[in-house]
Amino acid sequence: MNNTARLRRGLILVNAYSESESEMNQPIRLASELNSLGIKAEIKRNNYFPAVLNGDIFCPVKDCDFVVYLDKDKYVSDMLERSGVRLFNRHEAIRICDDKVKTFICLSNAGVRMPKTLPGLLCYNGDGVLSRTSIDRIEEELSYPIVVKESYGSLGKGVYLVESRGELIELTSKLKGVPHMFQEYIAFSRGRDVRIIVIGGKVVGGMLRTSDSDFRSNISLGGRAEPFEVTKEMKALAEKVANILGLDYCGVDMLFSENGPLVCEVNSNAFFGGFEKITGINVAAIYAQHILKTIYG
Ligand SMILES: Nc1ncnc2c1ncn2[C@@H]1O[C@H](COP(=O)(O)OP(=O)(O)O)[C@@H](O)[C@H]1O
Ligand SMILES: [Mg+2]
Repeated sequence: MNNTARLRRGLILVNAYSESESEMNQPIRLASELNSLGIKAEIKRNNYFPAVLNGDIFCPVKDCDFVVYLDKDKYVSDMLERSGVRLFNRHEAIRICDDKVKTFICLSNAGVRMPKTLPGLLCYNGDGVLSRTSIDRIEEELSYPIVVKESYGSLGKGVYLVESRGELIELTSKLKGVPHMFQEYIAFSRGRDVRIIVIGGKVVGGMLRTSDSDFRSNISLGGRAEPFEVTKEMKALAEKVANILGLDYCGVDMLFSENGPLVCEVNSNAFFGGFEKITGINVAAIYAQHILKTIYG
């Protein structure tokens, strides 16, 4: 027996400002499942960061075989990866998913069904107003109500429904300088969507979210959740999306339509606490197994 076998070590990085119990549940669950597979996993805040010093990247993260990156801070993830660290998820996948417009662009031309989406227009001018030509272009593709979404929103906070041209002008002037998009409203899915977790390219389960009081089904806005049997069509779509974006772990959110599921958004850092409780699926154990297989074979 080889007693000198190297200790298996990993690091779980959370956002530098993370404090709340809900933010710490995910790393604690993952660390515990990794530990039970014989991998020593340490949880750290992402505040002892790499830096570009004297023209080179200085990376303080040492003696670990991988980093589970439960953050979206794209500068640090980029530097870690350039220093040779294997990240779960990879930097590029996190960067794409963080930006909802970029996600749709990367999923395009691949047979992935999504709501019609037009990118918001950047405005550098303090008193600029959305031009008549731009509004005509948006209205040519979409009819009211129109969904307007901030590119970097989460928990439903940056998702709006505008009913008229007047509301569109008012909202876009508030969103000046905030990257956003205009999107087809899928009325068939009002207050309903499905969260599907994919790990290592395979769907592990699904959860239906429903709201009676809002077109957004986010739990944080009053939506309720129940287990959902993922259809064959949704499974194929979710796995395709995870594969295109190169994600080890993700939550793919889908809307219902008369013609089948549509991709709503992809969360590279989807919280799994609520999902585990509702579905009874041990997401952390499946993720830990995926990491074990990827790193140690
Ligand atoms: N195009 C759409 N049509 C109908 N409902 C939508 C549409 N886009 C989003 N929603 C609803 O709004 C919720 C929040 O939107 P989402 O894009 O997931 O943003 P967030 O990242 O804030 O959760 C979704 O879960 C869904 O219920
Ligand atoms: Mg969402």
